[in-house]
Amino acid sequence: MQTNPYVPIPVNVDKIITEVTTKDIKTFRLAFVNKEDEENFKYLPGQFAELSVFGKGESPIGIASSPTQKGYIEFTVQKAGVVTSELHAMEEGTLMGVRGPLGNTWPIDYLEGKNIVIVGGGFAFTTLRSLLNYMIDDANRSRFQNITVVYGAREPGLLIYKDELAQWEKRDDINLNVTVDKGDETWKGREGFVPTVCKEVAPSSENAVAVICGPPIMIRFTLPVFFDLGFSRENIYTSLEMRMKCGIGKCGRCNVGHKYVCKDGPVFSLAELDGLTKEY
Ligand SMILES: Cc1cc2nc3c(=O)[nH]c(=O)nc-3n(C[C@H](O)[C@H](O)[C@H](O)COP(=O)(O)OP(=O)(O)OC[C@H]3O[C@@H](n4cnc5c(N)ncnc54)[C@H](O)[C@@H]3O)c2cc1C
Ligand code: FES
Repeated sequence: MQTNPYVPIPVNVDKIITEVTTKDIKTFRLAFVNKEDEENFKYLPGQFAELSVFGKGESPIGIASSPTQKGYIEFTVQKAGVVTSELHAMEEGTLMGVRGPLGNTWPIDYLEGKNIVIVGGGFAFTTLRSLLNYMIDDANRSRFQNITVVYGAREPGLLIYKDELAQWEKRDDINLNVTVDKGDETWKGREGFVPTVCKEVAPSSENAVAVICGPPIMIRFTLPVFFDLGFSRENIYTSLEMRMKCGIGKCGRCNVGHKYVCKDGPVFSLAELDGLTKEY
């Protein structure tokens, strides 16, 4: 992390990828202006950063790239309000800032040696993508057992990372299940809601951990499926997206119970969340 945590690191917008047909979700590939900043920006999947648009403000966004991908960091951003709209209006080559990496990580050490089930819905697949790309990297793949992925969107045009989905599909070391609520004339894949597909795929809970991110309604209906499959609350992880300001545990804007989501999270097991909040 940089010396003064309030000062953004300068980065250039290297590449912008429009992810969805509605055009309101884009992936921003950012390149560090200074080599030293790139070397110091050491992160793991699950962390986030504050994206800083000079003169407009900051937004906390999960890091969507994997630390195994060198030379850049990526963020997938939905256009929501002031800062994210400014980001969406940017062109390649624009100078902006990044503060981070911030927060905790997916529990990589705990996941080691286990079967991993990744469940994502909509555009909340960003840090799960980071985790997946990290685990399937040649240097890391042997550290993890079976990898099962269930990823769903409302319709085919809303699936993000389509090129990577096609690449992952070809691998025989990932059990990839992509689904849409409702297909169209071009869609040849699976149709069905994420919880239903999880039920059909029925990953074993034996030596397994599930990491789940998505809209609250998806999470609400997916969790009972995992409980039925025998997953304990200790072995189900999720990531929270509370409103934030400082991102470093100083301002008290993001607390859930006695925890700061920006510092103690955003990743929590359900067991950790018990007693902190009813909504996740
Ligand atoms: C740890 C973390 C990771 C995140 N990762 C991503 C990501 O990968 N991609 C992404 O697109 N977004 C992500 N978000 C949400 C993102 O931070 C907000 O959408 C963004 O800050 C909105 O900023 P804005 O200035 O454009 O909107 P504003 O002008 O501030 O607000 C626009 C609208 O968005 C709502 N809003 C603002 N912040 C949040 C929030 N945190 N949660 C829900 N609603 C909010 C406001 O109530 C308002 O209705 C993440 C949030 C957190 C805390
Ligand atoms: S955002 Fe300031 S304490 Fe978490």
